[in-house]
Amino acid sequence: MDAYKLISLDKISSTQDWAHDLIAKKQASDKTVIVATAQTAGRGRYRRKWVSHTGNLYASFIYKITERNPKISYAIAIAVAETLMEFGLTPKIKWPNDILVNGKKISGILIEYAQNFVIIGIGINIKTCPTVPEYQTTKMSRFTDATVPDVLNVLIKKIDKLRNADFNAVRERWTELALGIRGKIKYHGSEMEIIGINKNGALILRHGAHYILTYGDEISI
Ligand code: BTN
Repeated sequence: MDAYKLISLDKISSTQDWAHDLIAKKQASDKTVIVATAQTAGRGRYRRKWVSHTGNLYASFIYKITERNPKISYAIAIAVAETLMEFGLTPKIKWPNDILVNGKKISGILIEYAQNFVIIGIGINIKTCPTVPEYQTTKMSRFTDATVPDVLNVLIKKIDKLRNADFNAVRERWTELALGIRGKIKYHGSEMEIIGINKNGALILRHGAHYILTYGDEISI
């Protein structure tokens, strides 16, 4: 693993925003990780707030890219899930890249682009889990006494290994870890079964004899 540049900060607004600023100021380099102890304006997907008290992991990984690759979100979800597994947890991935333990969200991933960089934001609940209206939450301290540096160390190694992995291997691993495979989920109000992801990264759903491909919609389990 080539060296990563680690920028370790106290409480800031958001590691994603910090990454965007670095890029805008032309000070960003490939393989930079920004970590903060807490965030005052942590952001999630769907313009949601990511409540960010001290004790959890808040990190944004910056990589230089030549083109956008939406499939990276699967590799990152696996990296987070495998990180949790190293500490004895049994995570599942909820499409496209929420990480749940016992059906409760423990980690979220936010992928953004700026200039020729991708910014991969990851939040992992270690010591605290907020109560939010949208879903139930849990935290690593219910299962392990791992610290933020312990988790970050493993996470960097997993991401480094998986981000350039062959997509067929990623697809297979994602399917193994995904919630709702061969089970029932709700998609636009109808009960469907998740079959897996195709070679372009679309989710394959089955509704009776019909197969449906989707890229971005949320499903409910
Ligand atoms: C989600 O599930 O909605 C994604 C949450 C992503 C949260 C992380 S915490 C580190 C980084 N900084 C942010 O402001 N957001 C991401």
